[in-house]
Amino acid sequence: MSDPYQNDRGNKDRSITRPDSGTTDTTRRSGKTHPAPGTPFLVGDDMTGGYGKGPDILHGCTIAVNPGEIAVIVGPNGAGKSTAMKAVFGMLEVRSGRVMLDGEDITALTPQDRVKKGMGFVPQTSNIFTGLTVEENLEMGAFIRTDDFRGTMEQVYELFPILKEKRYQAAGELSGGQRQQVAVGRALMTQPKVLMLDEPTAGVSPIVMDELFDRIIEVARTGIPILMVEQNARQALEIADKGYVLVQGRNAHTGTGKELLADADVRRSFLGG
Ligand SMILES: Nc1ncnc2c1ncn2[C@@H]1O[C@H](COP(=O)(O)OP(=O)(O)OP(=O)(O)O)[C@@H](O)[C@H]1O
Ligand SMILES: [Mg+2]
Repeated sequence: MSDPYQNDRGNKDRSITRPDSGTTDTTRRSGKTHPAPGTPFLVGDDMTGGYGKGPDILHGCTIAVNPGEIAVIVGPNGAGKSTAMKAVFGMLEVRSGRVMLDGEDITALTPQDRVKKGMGFVPQTSNIFTGLTVEENLEMGAFIRTDDFRGTMEQVYELFPILKEKRYQAAGELSGGQRQQVAVGRALMTQPKVLMLDEPTAGVSPIVMDELFDRIIEVARTGIPILMVEQNARQALEIADKGYVLVQGRNAHTGTGKELLADADVRRSFLGG
């Protein structure tokens, strides 16, 4: 799949975003440190950690995304990709390292507080309420909002028209690709400043995968940086500004999507030659 937006990605349509979304402006808001230009908007830096009292799964792992970019994490099953995402979202305590969002150290915050700070996360599994309707799922996504979220819901329906058609149907009755749209739509309901997706195209056909990637690119173009894990490594790296190959909880390769696709080592080990 070629990327029609490769050299055309930017904050053209900011309708889904909050007014201050994805900014690295160091002067506009006062009282808060902001990252210098080029500093990642969201970074899980040098993270070490595991589950409960268990052994370390992450060994100094770093994943990050810059404003206006799509960053993709690939790697073999069990490499720790989901664990790294959970650590960045605060579902797993890091034993060392830190998580920074827009220049602020958020390592100690709960996932709920990270959502309030502007993080949206679509986990790999159990990412929708199957017994609720599509629309109820979107309403659940807006749980932290006290303002009128109808406009955001309309924007989600514009992005995913099929969801509007099926708004009163139980989400559990939808196809795999449609469920993933519900999951992404639910995350967008908080008007996130950054979106984290763990395998958004898991279990869908190649055509549906292409469609989902197109929608993800569209979301990125509204100015929301996207940090996502993908098992469709080749296709994902084609749309990635930045790519990370994780192996056994460590960064094995890092580069632009293009660089990783051209890297002989990466191709042989992870892309089937
Ligand atoms: N809830 C958990 N409790 C204990 N260990 C876990 C838990 N979840 C994952 N692990 C372990 O952490 C390691 C990394 O798993 P993780 O799910 O992060 O891998 P992954 O790269 O996302 O794999 P996949 O491609 O299959 O999604 C594995 O050894 C796994 O068994
Ligand atoms: Mg995983």
